[in-house]
Amino acid sequence: MSGILERVIVALDFPDGESALRFVDEAGGRLTWYKVGLQLYLSEGESIVRKLKERGKKVFLDLKLHDIPNTVKGAVRAISRLGVDMITVHATGGGDMIRAAREGAGDADMIIVAVTILTSLSHEDLVSFGYSLDTVSIVKNLSEISLTAGADGIVCSPLEVGYLKNNLNGTFIAVTPGIRFSEDAAGDQKRVSTPEEAIAAGADYIVMGRSLTAAGNLRERLDQLGSIPFPRP
Ligand code: C5P
Repeated sequence: MSGILERVIVALDFPDGESALRFVDEAGGRLTWYKVGLQLYLSEGESIVRKLKERGKKVFLDLKLHDIPNTVKGAVRAISRLGVDMITVHATGGGDMIRAAREGAGDADMIIVAVTILTSLSHEDLVSFGYSLDTVSIVKNLSEISLTAGADGIVCSPLEVGYLKNNLNGTFIAVTPGIRFSEDAAGDQKRVSTPEEAIAAGADYIVMGRSLTAAGNLRERLDQLGSIPFPRP
């Protein structure tokens, strides 16, 4: 049994590379995985990926690709040259789009995870789209479509991960954003839980942004996180 710090992916939602790398350097060797999202990638481009890799970090490029299959295939082919370790596509792009993403990745050693329903969406939002099933069933359907089409895993809220791990066939990677320490505000996230709850429910990786990047007491927060056992190999 080991601590969970190697399973924590920090969302580097910073406006520029300098502030992102200041955080990375402050955390030093205690954290391995970093998520580069739209904001940072659009401001810094591939140089931020290179700088993280130079520091020996694993990079999750979270561009949440969602387009027609041919376009996504080309985009993933371009990403596969960057040397990132994990990428996202939207599950609602459908099975053909995810198959195309897999083809675009070719031989690159890159985990592809499909975002099911954003953790910032509530059940009421889904009803307003016209979705009539309960949230967990929609997430399960999207997960099945994604995994059948060749995704290595899925992104879901910590509230759904336990159900998915118990009700989907085969092994798959579950990544859960929407993580908050019990004393933190949820902010724009709607479907949230604590790191302990997410890991206990079966999350393989937890994505944490503002609870770490906006905390004044990073060292204490990492101590708090590091003391949580990760119960799986
Ligand atoms: O600051 P916070 O912990 O809410 O950041 C969560 C991160 O996870 C953000 O970078 C967001 O883009 C990402 N994310 C999410 N919900 C998803 C997929 C990714 O919040 N379904």
